Amino acid sequence: MTTSREMHLIAYLKTGPTANHMGAWRHPEADLQNVLTPGYYEHLARVLENGRFDGCFFADGLGLHDIYNGGYQTRLQLGGQISFLDPMMVLPLMARATTHLGICTTLSTTFHQPYNLARMLSSLDILSGGRVAWNIVTSTRREEALNFGMDDLPTRDERYDRADEVVEACCALWDCWEEGSLVMDKENGLMVDASKVHYANYEGRWTKTRGPLTIPRSPQGRPVLMQAGSSPRGRDFAARWAEVIFVPLNDKAELRAFREDIAARMSAVGRDPAKCAILPSLRVVVGETESIAEEKAAYLDSLIDPELVIAARSSEIGVDLAQPMKDIDAIGKARGTQGMHESFARVQRLMEQENIGFEDALRRQSRRGTLVGTAQSIVDQMQDLFDGEACDGFIIEQMVVPSSLEEFCRTIVPELQKRGLLRREYRGTTLRENLQ
Ligand SMILES: Cc1cc2nc3c(=O)[nH]c(=O)nc-3n(C[C@H](O)[C@H](O)[C@H](O)COP(=O)(O)O)c2cc1C
Repeated sequence: MTTSREMHLIAYLKTGPTANHMGAWRHPEADLQNVLTPGYYEHLARVLENGRFDGCFFADGLGLHDIYNGGYQTRLQLGGQISFLDPMMVLPLMARATTHLGICTTLSTTFHQPYNLARMLSSLDILSGGRVAWNIVTSTRREEALNFGMDDLPTRDERYDRADEVVEACCALWDCWEEGSLVMDKENGLMVDASKVHYANYEGRWTKTRGPLTIPRSPQGRPVLMQAGSSPRGRDFAARWAEVIFVPLNDKAELRAFREDIAARMSAVGRDPAKCAILPSLRVVVGETESIAEEKAAYLDSLIDPELVIAARSSEIGVDLAQPMKDIDAIGKARGTQGMHESFARVQRLMEQENIGFEDALRRQSRRGTLVGTAQSIVDQMQDLFDGEACDGFIIEQMVVPSSLEEFCRTIVPELQKRGLLRREYRGTTLRENLQ
Protein backbone atom coordinates (compact mmCIF):
# COMPACT_ATOMS: atom_id res chain seq x y z
CA MET A 1 0.00 0.00 0.00
CA THR A 2 1.30 3.46 -0.81
CA THR A 3 0.40 6.74 0.77
CA SER A 4 0.68 10.34 -0.34
CA ARG A 5 1.94 11.48 3.06
CA GLU A 6 5.69 11.57 3.40
CA MET A 7 7.33 10.02 6.42
CA HIS A 8 9.84 12.13 8.33
CA LEU A 9 13.00 10.66 9.80
CA ILE A 10 15.34 12.31 12.25
CA ALA A 11 18.37 10.52 13.72
CA TYR A 12 18.84 10.67 17.49
CA LEU A 13 22.55 11.09 18.11
CA LYS A 14 24.87 11.76 20.99
CA THR A 15 28.36 13.12 20.76
CA GLY A 16 30.28 9.98 21.72
CA PRO A 17 29.48 6.27 21.60
CA THR A 18 26.67 6.04 24.18
CA ALA A 19 22.99 6.79 23.75
CA ASN A 20 19.77 5.20 25.00
CA HIS A 21 20.83 1.60 24.40
CA MET A 22 23.05 0.90 27.36
CA GLY A 23 25.20 -1.87 25.92
CA ALA A 24 25.68 -0.94 22.26
CA TRP A 25 28.97 0.87 22.85
CA ARG A 26 30.51 -2.49 23.84
CA HIS A 27 29.54 -4.18 20.57
CA PRO A 28 32.58 -5.41 18.57
CA GLU A 29 31.52 -3.22 15.62
CA ALA A 30 31.31 0.01 17.66
CA ASP A 31 33.88 2.44 16.28
CA LEU A 32 35.30 3.81 19.51
CA GLN A 33 38.55 4.81 17.79
CA ASN A 34 37.01 7.50 15.62
CA VAL A 35 33.91 8.58 17.48
CA LEU A 36 35.58 11.74 18.78
CA THR A 37 37.06 12.80 15.42
CA PRO A 38 35.58 15.23 12.86
CA GLY A 39 35.68 12.57 10.13
CA TYR A 40 33.30 10.36 12.08
CA TYR A 41 30.58 13.03 12.18
CA GLU A 42 31.10 14.03 8.56
CA HIS A 43 30.75 10.39 7.54
CA LEU A 44 27.59 9.94 9.60
CA ALA A 45 26.06 13.09 8.10
CA ARG A 46 26.67 11.76 4.58
CA VAL A 47 25.17 8.39 5.48
CA LEU A 48 22.01 10.06 6.82
CA GLU A 49 21.71 12.37 3.84
CA ASN A 50 22.06 9.42 1.46
CA GLY A 51 19.29 7.78 3.50
CA ARG A 52 17.17 10.92 2.89
CA PHE A 53 16.71 11.65 6.59
CA ASP A 54 15.12 15.03 7.27
CA GLY A 55 17.81 15.66 9.82
CA CYS A 56 19.92 14.53 12.70
CA PHE A 57 19.69 15.79 16.23
CA PHE A 58 21.99 15.65 19.20
CA ALA A 59 20.45 14.99 22.56
CA ASP A 60 22.46 16.87 25.15
CA GLY A 61 22.75 17.60 28.84
CA LEU A 62 24.84 20.05 30.80
CA GLY A 63 26.15 17.89 33.59
CA LEU A 64 27.32 14.35 34.31
CA HIS A 65 24.54 12.23 35.74
CA ASP A 66 25.32 11.74 39.41
CA ILE A 67 21.96 11.10 40.98
CA TYR A 68 22.46 7.31 41.23
CA ASN A 69 24.19 6.13 44.37
CA GLY A 70 25.33 9.68 45.12
CA GLY A 71 27.92 9.90 42.33
CA TYR A 72 28.75 9.73 38.64
CA GLN A 73 30.96 6.64 38.95
CA THR A 74 28.41 4.02 37.83
CA ARG A 75 27.29 5.95 34.77
CA LEU A 76 30.85 6.77 33.73
CA GLN A 77 32.27 3.31 34.32
CA LEU A 78 29.45 1.35 32.72
CA GLY A 79 28.93 3.72 29.79
CA GLY A 80 25.68 5.56 30.37
CA GLN A 81 24.53 8.32 28.06
CA ILE A 82 27.22 11.02 28.10
CA SER A 83 27.80 14.10 25.90
CA PHE A 84 31.50 13.86 25.14
CA LEU A 85 31.50 16.97 22.92
CA ASP A 86 29.45 20.13 22.61
CA PRO A 87 27.01 19.55 19.72
CA MET A 88 27.34 23.18 18.61
CA MET A 89 30.96 22.42 17.70
CA VAL A 90 30.06 19.24 15.85
CA LEU A 91 27.06 20.36 13.80
CA PRO A 92 29.01 22.77 11.55
CA LEU A 93 31.19 19.83 10.50
CA MET A 94 28.10 17.87 9.55
CA ALA A 95 26.63 20.83 7.70
CA ARG A 96 29.84 21.18 5.68
CA ALA A 97 29.68 17.54 4.62
CA THR A 98 26.09 17.74 3.34
CA THR A 99 23.68 19.97 1.42
CA HIS A 100 20.17 19.01 2.61
CA LEU A 101 20.39 17.22 5.95
CA GLY A 102 18.79 19.17 8.79
CA ILE A 103 21.13 19.76 11.72
CA CYS A 104 19.50 20.01 15.09
CA THR A 105 20.85 20.76 18.49
CA THR A 106 19.52 20.71 22.03
CA LEU A 107 19.76 23.92 24.05
CA SER A 108 18.27 24.68 27.44
CA THR A 109 16.03 27.67 28.11
CA THR A 110 16.69 27.32 31.83
CA PHE A 111 20.42 27.99 31.60
CA HIS A 112 21.00 30.05 28.45
CA GLN A 113 20.23 33.69 27.71
CA PRO A 114 18.07 34.45 24.66
CA TYR A 115 20.71 36.66 23.08
CA ASN A 116 23.28 33.85 23.05
CA LEU A 117 20.73 31.31 21.84
CA ALA A 118 19.47 33.52 19.03
CA ARG A 119 23.00 34.40 17.90
CA MET A 120 24.29 30.82 17.85
CA LEU A 121 21.27 29.40 16.09
CA SER A 122 21.09 32.20 13.48
CA SER A 123 24.78 31.88 12.70
CA LEU A 124 24.40 28.15 12.13
CA ASP A 125 21.26 28.67 10.06
CA ILE A 126 23.14 31.10 7.80
CA LEU A 127 26.20 28.89 7.46
CA SER A 128 24.12 25.77 6.72
CA GLY A 129 21.84 27.49 4.21
CA GLY A 130 18.74 27.18 6.41
CA ARG A 131 18.97 23.71 7.90
CA VAL A 132 18.92 24.33 11.64
CA ALA A 133 16.50 23.10 14.27
CA TRP A 134 16.50 23.78 18.00
CA ASN A 135 15.36 21.05 20.37
CA ILE A 136 14.06 23.29 23.14
CA VAL A 137 14.58 21.72 26.54
CA THR A 138 13.90 23.11 29.97
CA SER A 139 16.33 20.54 31.52
CA THR A 140 15.31 17.92 34.03
CA ARG A 141 18.27 17.43 36.36
CA ARG A 142 19.56 19.18 39.45
CA GLU A 143 23.12 18.27 38.40
CA GLU A 144 22.73 20.68 35.48
CA ALA A 145 21.38 23.48 37.67
CA LEU A 146 24.43 23.18 39.95
CA ASN A 147 26.67 24.03 36.99
CA PHE A 148 24.84 27.29 36.30
CA GLY A 149 24.80 29.13 39.59
CA MET A 150 21.60 27.54 40.92
CA ASP A 151 21.17 25.34 43.97
CA ASP A 152 18.28 23.40 42.46
CA LEU A 153 16.13 23.23 39.37
CA PRO A 154 13.21 25.62 39.27
CA THR A 155 9.85 23.81 39.39
CA ARG A 156 8.54 22.30 36.17
CA ASP A 157 5.91 25.04 35.74
CA GLU A 158 8.42 27.78 36.35
CA ARG A 159 10.84 26.22 33.86
CA TYR A 160 8.14 26.18 31.21
CA ASP A 161 7.03 29.75 32.02
CA ARG A 162 10.60 30.88 31.59
CA ALA A 163 10.90 28.81 28.40
CA ASP A 164 7.90 30.60 26.91
CA GLU A 165 9.61 33.91 27.57
CA VAL A 166 13.01 32.79 26.31
CA VAL A 167 11.49 31.62 23.02
CA GLU A 168 9.42 34.83 22.73
CA ALA A 169 12.61 36.83 23.28
CA CYS A 170 14.52 34.78 20.71
CA CYS A 171 11.75 35.33 18.16
CA ALA A 172 11.84 39.07 18.85
CA LEU A 173 15.61 39.00 18.27
CA TRP A 174 15.30 36.94 15.08
CA ASP A 175 12.80 39.49 13.76
CA CYS A 176 15.12 42.48 14.37
CA TRP A 177 16.48 42.25 10.86
CA GLU A 178 13.69 42.45 8.29
CA GLU A 179 13.84 40.52 5.06
CA GLY A 180 16.04 42.42 2.59
CA SER A 181 17.94 44.44 5.20
CA LEU A 182 21.33 43.02 4.17
CA VAL A 183 22.07 44.93 0.95
CA MET A 184 25.84 44.52 0.35
CA ASP A 185 25.80 47.16 -2.43
CA LYS A 186 29.42 48.16 -3.11
CA GLU A 187 28.57 50.65 -5.81
CA ASN A 188 26.24 52.77 -3.69
CA GLY A 189 28.16 52.14 -0.49
CA LEU A 190 25.21 50.58 1.29
CA MET A 191 25.95 47.47 3.30
CA VAL A 192 22.83 47.26 5.48
CA ASP A 193 19.52 49.12 5.09
CA ALA A 194 19.42 50.33 8.69
CA SER A 195 15.77 51.38 8.35
CA LYS A 196 14.95 47.68 8.23
CA VAL A 197 16.78 46.81 11.45
CA HIS A 198 14.93 47.30 14.75
CA TYR A 199 15.38 46.88 18.47
CA ALA A 200 13.72 43.86 20.03
CA ASN A 201 12.93 45.58 23.35
CA TYR A 202 11.73 42.36 24.93
CA GLU A 203 10.93 42.45 28.60
CA GLY A 204 9.33 39.60 30.49
CA ARG A 205 9.28 38.41 34.04
CA TRP A 206 12.33 36.18 33.73
CA THR A 207 14.27 37.62 30.87
CA LYS A 208 14.98 40.92 29.19
CA THR A 209 16.88 41.79 26.01
CA ARG A 210 17.12 44.88 23.89
CA GLY A 211 18.69 43.74 20.63
CA PRO A 212 19.11 44.10 17.76
CA LEU A 213 21.08 40.96 17.00
CA THR A 214 24.43 41.45 15.35
CA ILE A 215 23.48 38.65 12.96
CA PRO A 216 21.44 39.26 9.79
CA ARG A 217 18.18 37.44 9.18
CA SER A 218 18.90 33.76 8.47
CA PRO A 219 17.46 31.76 5.55
CA GLN A 220 14.74 30.17 7.70
CA GLY A 221 14.09 33.39 9.66
CA ARG A 222 14.15 31.27 12.77
CA PRO A 223 15.26 27.68 13.30
CA VAL A 224 12.74 24.86 13.19
CA LEU A 225 11.55 24.45 16.78
CA MET A 226 11.41 20.97 18.28
CA GLN A 227 10.27 19.85 21.72
CA ALA A 228 9.66 16.71 23.76
CA GLY A 229 7.58 17.62 26.77
CA SER A 230 4.97 15.11 27.84
CA SER A 231 3.53 16.68 31.02
CA PRO A 232 0.35 18.77 30.53
CA ARG A 233 2.41 21.97 30.84
CA GLY A 234 5.02 20.54 28.46
CA ARG A 235 2.29 19.75 25.93
CA ASP A 236 0.93 23.29 26.13
CA PHE A 237 4.40 24.62 25.48
CA ALA A 238 4.84 22.26 22.53
CA ALA A 239 1.43 23.19 21.14
CA ARG A 240 2.43 26.84 21.18
CA TRP A 241 5.86 26.51 19.59
CA ALA A 242 6.86 23.10 18.28
CA GLU A 243 7.10 22.16 14.62
CA VAL A 244 8.40 18.73 15.58
CA ILE A 245 7.53 16.85 18.77
CA PHE A 246 9.46 13.83 20.02
CA VAL A 247 7.60 11.27 21.99
CA PRO A 248 8.62 7.87 23.38
CA LEU A 249 7.28 4.96 21.32
CA ASN A 250 3.95 3.73 22.68
CA ASP A 251 1.25 1.57 21.16
CA LYS A 252 -0.92 2.92 18.37
CA ALA A 253 -3.83 3.91 20.58
CA GLU A 254 -1.62 5.87 22.97
CA LEU A 255 0.24 7.62 20.19
CA ARG A 256 -3.03 8.56 18.51
CA ALA A 257 -4.37 9.91 21.76
CA PHE A 258 -1.21 11.99 22.17
CA ARG A 259 -1.44 13.29 18.60
CA GLU A 260 -5.10 14.20 19.06
CA ASP A 261 -4.35 15.90 22.36
CA ILE A 262 -1.60 18.01 20.76
CA ALA A 263 -3.88 18.82 17.80
CA ALA A 264 -6.57 20.08 20.19
CA ARG A 265 -4.06 22.17 22.13
CA MET A 266 -2.65 23.63 18.87
CA SER A 267 -6.12 24.52 17.60
CA ALA A 268 -6.87 26.18 20.93
CA VAL A 269 -3.94 28.56 20.41
CA GLY A 270 -4.83 29.18 16.76
CA ARG A 271 -2.23 26.90 15.16
CA ASP A 272 -2.84 24.43 12.37
CA PRO A 273 -2.11 20.91 13.74
CA ALA A 274 -0.71 19.94 10.33
CA LYS A 275 2.19 22.29 11.05
CA CYS A 276 3.69 19.97 13.64
CA ALA A 277 5.20 16.52 13.07
CA ILE A 278 4.85 14.00 15.89
CA LEU A 279 7.78 11.59 15.88
CA PRO A 280 8.11 8.65 18.29
CA SER A 281 11.65 7.53 19.00
CA LEU A 282 12.59 4.11 17.81
CA ARG A 283 15.45 1.64 17.99
CA VAL A 284 15.71 -0.90 15.22
CA VAL A 285 17.48 -4.27 15.17
CA VAL A 286 17.30 -5.67 11.66
CA GLY A 287 18.30 -9.12 10.39
CA GLU A 288 18.04 -11.15 7.19
CA THR A 289 15.52 -13.37 8.99
CA GLU A 290 13.42 -12.90 12.13
CA SER A 291 15.62 -15.33 14.05
CA ILE A 292 18.85 -13.59 13.02
CA ALA A 293 17.35 -10.29 14.16
CA GLU A 294 16.26 -11.82 17.44
CA GLU A 295 19.76 -13.21 18.00
CA LYS A 296 21.30 -9.80 17.31
CA ALA A 297 18.89 -8.14 19.74
CA ALA A 298 19.59 -10.74 22.42
CA TYR A 299 23.33 -10.23 21.98
CA LEU A 300 22.92 -6.45 22.32
CA ASP A 301 20.82 -6.98 25.46
CA SER A 302 23.53 -9.22 26.92
CA LEU A 303 25.95 -6.28 26.77
CA ILE A 304 23.84 -4.23 29.19
CA ASP A 305 24.92 -4.16 32.81
CA PRO A 306 21.75 -4.41 34.96
CA GLU A 307 23.08 -1.81 37.38
CA LEU A 308 23.35 0.71 34.56
CA VAL A 309 19.66 0.22 33.81
CA ILE A 310 18.79 1.28 37.35
CA ALA A 311 21.25 4.19 37.19
CA ALA A 312 19.69 5.41 33.94
CA ARG A 313 16.15 5.07 35.27
CA SER A 314 17.26 7.10 38.30
CA SER A 315 18.10 10.02 36.04
CA GLU A 316 14.97 9.69 33.92
CA ILE A 317 12.66 9.47 36.91
CA GLY A 318 14.66 11.94 39.00
CA VAL A 319 15.31 9.90 42.12
CA ASP A 320 18.24 7.82 43.45
CA LEU A 321 17.02 4.26 42.99
CA ALA A 322 20.06 2.88 44.82
CA GLN A 323 18.31 3.97 48.01
CA PRO A 324 15.63 1.69 49.44
CA MET A 325 12.20 3.23 48.82
CA LYS A 326 9.11 2.13 50.62
CA ASP A 327 6.59 2.46 47.81
CA ILE A 328 5.75 4.26 44.61
CA ASP A 329 4.29 7.22 46.50
CA ALA A 330 7.57 7.70 48.38
CA ILE A 331 9.44 7.61 45.06
CA GLY A 332 7.02 10.16 43.60
CA LYS A 333 7.67 12.50 46.52
CA ALA A 334 11.46 12.07 46.47
CA ARG A 335 11.65 13.30 42.85
CA GLY A 336 11.15 16.91 43.78
CA THR A 337 11.44 19.09 40.67
CA GLN A 338 13.50 16.59 38.69
CA GLY A 339 12.87 13.92 36.10
CA MET A 340 10.66 13.35 33.11
CA HIS A 341 6.92 13.12 33.57
CA GLU A 342 6.51 10.32 31.02
CA SER A 343 9.24 8.08 32.47
CA PHE A 344 7.58 7.98 35.86
CA ALA A 345 4.09 7.67 34.38
CA ARG A 346 5.23 4.73 32.23
CA VAL A 347 6.49 2.79 35.25
CA GLN A 348 3.24 3.48 37.08
CA ARG A 349 1.23 2.27 34.07
CA LEU A 350 3.26 -0.93 33.76
CA MET A 351 2.82 -1.71 37.46
CA GLU A 352 -0.92 -1.33 37.14
CA GLN A 353 -1.39 -3.06 33.79
CA GLU A 354 0.77 -6.07 34.59
CA ASN A 355 0.27 -6.15 38.33
CA ILE A 356 4.02 -6.16 38.99
CA GLY A 357 6.30 -4.41 41.49
CA PHE A 358 8.34 -1.27 40.91
CA GLU A 359 11.69 -3.02 40.27
CA ASP A 360 10.15 -5.42 37.78
CA ALA A 361 8.50 -2.54 35.98
CA LEU A 362 11.83 -0.72 35.74
CA ARG A 363 13.63 -3.69 34.22
CA ARG A 364 10.73 -4.77 31.99
CA GLN A 365 11.53 -1.83 29.73
CA SER A 366 14.92 -2.82 28.34
CA ARG A 367 13.41 -3.49 24.88
CA ARG A 368 11.00 -0.59 25.02
CA GLY A 369 10.87 1.40 21.81
CA THR A 370 12.72 -1.34 19.91
CA LEU A 371 11.55 -3.05 16.74
CA VAL A 372 13.29 -6.33 15.99
CA GLY A 373 12.83 -8.19 12.70
CA THR A 374 13.50 -8.20 8.97
CA ALA A 375 13.41 -4.96 7.01
CA GLN A 376 9.94 -5.94 5.77
CA SER A 377 8.47 -6.70 9.16
CA ILE A 378 9.97 -3.57 10.72
CA VAL A 379 8.66 -1.39 7.91
CA ASP A 380 5.26 -3.11 8.26
CA GLN A 381 5.12 -1.89 11.87
CA MET A 382 6.37 1.60 11.03
CA GLN A 383 3.83 1.83 8.22
CA ASP A 384 1.04 0.62 10.46
CA LEU A 385 1.69 3.49 12.90
CA PHE A 386 2.20 6.01 10.12
CA ASP A 387 -0.83 5.05 8.02
CA GLY A 388 -2.88 4.72 11.20
CA GLU A 389 -2.26 8.47 11.83
CA ALA A 390 -0.47 7.67 15.07
CA CYS A 391 2.63 9.61 13.98
CA ASP A 392 4.27 11.51 11.11
CA GLY A 393 7.55 9.63 11.11
CA PHE A 394 10.20 8.52 13.54
CA ILE A 395 13.25 9.46 15.54
CA ILE A 396 15.78 6.71 14.84
CA GLU A 397 18.13 6.22 17.73
CA GLN A 398 21.86 5.67 17.43
CA MET A 399 22.90 2.30 18.86
CA VAL A 400 26.14 0.73 17.64
CA VAL A 401 28.20 3.63 16.30
CA PRO A 402 27.91 4.15 13.38
CA SER A 403 26.92 0.73 12.01
CA SER A 404 23.29 0.69 13.25
CA LEU A 405 22.42 3.84 11.32
CA GLU A 406 24.41 2.65 8.29
CA GLU A 407 22.44 -0.59 8.41
CA PHE A 408 19.17 1.30 8.77
CA CYS A 409 19.98 3.29 5.62
CA ARG A 410 21.03 0.14 3.77
CA THR A 411 18.04 -2.02 4.70
CA ILE A 412 15.06 -0.05 6.04
CA VAL A 413 15.33 3.07 3.87
CA PRO A 414 15.06 1.22 0.51
CA GLU A 415 12.03 -0.69 1.81
CA LEU A 416 10.38 2.57 2.90
CA GLN A 417 11.16 4.11 -0.48
CA LYS A 418 9.86 1.07 -2.37
CA ARG A 419 6.53 1.51 -0.58
CA GLY A 420 6.43 5.21 -1.42
CA LEU A 421 6.68 6.19 2.24
CA LEU A 422 10.00 8.03 2.11
CA ARG A 423 11.34 10.59 -0.33
CA ARG A 424 13.92 9.53 -2.90
CA GLU A 425 15.03 13.14 -3.36
CA TYR A 426 14.77 16.18 -1.11
CA ARG A 427 12.09 18.57 -2.32
CA GLY A 428 13.17 21.69 -0.48
CA THR A 429 16.45 23.32 0.37
CA THR A 430 15.68 24.35 3.95
CA LEU A 431 14.81 21.94 6.75
CA ARG A 432 11.40 23.60 7.22
CA GLU A 433 10.57 23.05 3.54
CA ASN A 434 11.49 19.38 3.79
CA LEU A 435 9.37 18.95 6.89
CA GLN A 436 6.23 20.26 5.13
C1 LIG B 1 13.22 11.60 22.31
C2 LIG B 1 13.50 12.55 23.45
C3 LIG B 1 14.69 13.25 23.47
C4 LIG B 1 15.00 14.13 24.51
N1 LIG B 1 16.19 14.77 24.51
C5 LIG B 1 16.53 15.57 25.56
C6 LIG B 1 17.80 16.18 25.61
O1 LIG B 1 18.62 16.02 24.74
N2 LIG B 1 18.10 16.96 26.69
C7 LIG B 1 17.20 17.17 27.70
O2 LIG B 1 17.53 17.91 28.63
N3 LIG B 1 15.98 16.60 27.67
C8 LIG B 1 15.64 15.80 26.64
N4 LIG B 1 14.43 15.19 26.62
C9 LIG B 1 13.51 15.49 27.71
C10 LIG B 1 12.46 16.48 27.29
O3 LIG B 1 13.00 17.66 26.74
C11 LIG B 1 11.59 16.90 28.47
O4 LIG B 1 12.34 17.65 29.39
C12 LIG B 1 11.07 15.72 29.17
O5 LIG B 1 10.35 14.91 28.26
C13 LIG B 1 10.21 16.14 30.35
O6 LIG B 1 9.20 16.98 29.94
P1 LIG B 1 7.92 17.12 30.82
O7 LIG B 1 8.41 17.66 32.10
O8 LIG B 1 7.01 18.07 30.09
O9 LIG B 1 7.35 15.76 30.92
C14 LIG B 1 14.09 14.32 25.58
C15 LIG B 1 12.87 13.61 25.56
C16 LIG B 1 12.57 12.73 24.53
C17 LIG B 1 11.27 11.98 24.57
